Amino acid sequence: MKLKTKLVIAFILVMIFPTFVTMAGMHMLAPNKAGEIQQMYLIIVCVTTAVLVWWIYKTVSVPLAKLQEATRNIKEGNLDFEIKPENDDEIGQVCQDFEEMRLRLKANAEEKIEFDRENKELISNISHDLKTPITAIKGYVEGIMDGVADTPEKMDRYIKTIYNKANEMDRLINELTLYSKIDTNRIPYDFTTISAKQYFRDCAEDLAIELESKGAKFEYRNYLEEDAKIIVDPEQMRRVINNIVSNSLKYTDKPQAEIRMKILDVGDFIQVELSDNGKGIATKDLPYIFERFYRADASRNSSKGGSGIGLAIVKKIVEEHGGKIWATSEEGVGTTMYFVVRKYQEVPIE
Ligand SMILES: Nc1ncnc2c1ncn2[C@@H]1O[C@H](COP(=O)(O)OP(=O)(O)OP(=O)(O)O)[C@@H](O)[C@H]1O
Ligand SMILES: [Mg+2]
Repeated sequence: MKLKTKLVIAFILVMIFPTFVTMAGMHMLAPNKAGEIQQMYLIIVCVTTAVLVWWIYKTVSVPLAKLQEATRNIKEGNLDFEIKPENDDEIGQVCQDFEEMRLRLKANAEEKIEFDRENKELISNISHDLKTPITAIKGYVEGIMDGVADTPEKMDRYIKTIYNKANEMDRLINELTLYSKIDTNRIPYDFTTISAKQYFRDCAEDLAIELESKGAKFEYRNYLEEDAKIIVDPEQMRRVINNIVSNSLKYTDKPQAEIRMKILDVGDFIQVELSDNGKGIATKDLPYIFERFYRADASRNSSKGGSGIGLAIVKKIVEEHGGKIWATSEEGVGTTMYFVVRKYQEVPIE
């Protein structure tokens, strides 16, 4: 019941109820008992008012005390409580809104804790990944300084290793810079509307050449209509495909890597499927592969040299294209990455 209704009822009761009872009393008792009637009237007014005051006090003061307690809790940083609205009046609505505000504050606080945790992890991962090549470089340079590389062949090997390690650091720093730019939306996307069939055909042609040179098998199927169009940043979309394919090449355990690319029209989206015959990803790792720094191979000293940023970049770019990405995989059989990008729909002019 609304507070206004309650107050109106209270007013009517205070006015009418005692008058009605008194009138009835006057009717029943003799009119010469005016003094007693007056007394009775006063008692009835007092009782009715007391009941109503208690009723309104209960509906206003009790929830107000709860809100006061809740405000104190929030002020002290405690968000683990619950306010249950007891009535459906305005005060009940305030309690409901307060509860929603508490839930939102709690979600924000948890998000901040998670963000801080991720940042700490990020810094520790970066330090770790940079420390490994730098330790190696230091070791080899000390070797040269101490005269350990005493033959031209040894010297050549040392210098090549130093060069490779420096390249590894350079690649990692570039990847991190790109990731941080993408993460903070500092990459200016250059979106254009282009023919989907043509675009993916061009990508596939480049891939075919590259994969052939690396001894991998490549199969390509494009089921699109000629007029299907997509809005993409061609360069960034290439980055997505290249990143996925480079994983397929990197995480293979077969003598010959086999990669298949399939492009489908799925209504409002164009779906790209990239499958490989690699070592696959364990079911427990699959939900996390798109997280930054996640590597299914828990050891961070993998000879493969990945830092776990590739798929996080891929995911971000696909999402910036209004799409989404997911994967299926079977250990020992292979992995398929699926992503969709929104199709360009021409709006008919009326
Ligand atoms: N095609 C694949 N086959 C098997 N495992 C894969 C495949 N693609 C990704 N993974 C697993 O998912 C993890 C995350 O991949 P991601 O590309 O993000 O990182 P990375 O390849 O380790 O490093 P980076 O790409 O930054 O050099 C990889 O470490 C690997 O364990
Ligand atoms: Mg990768």
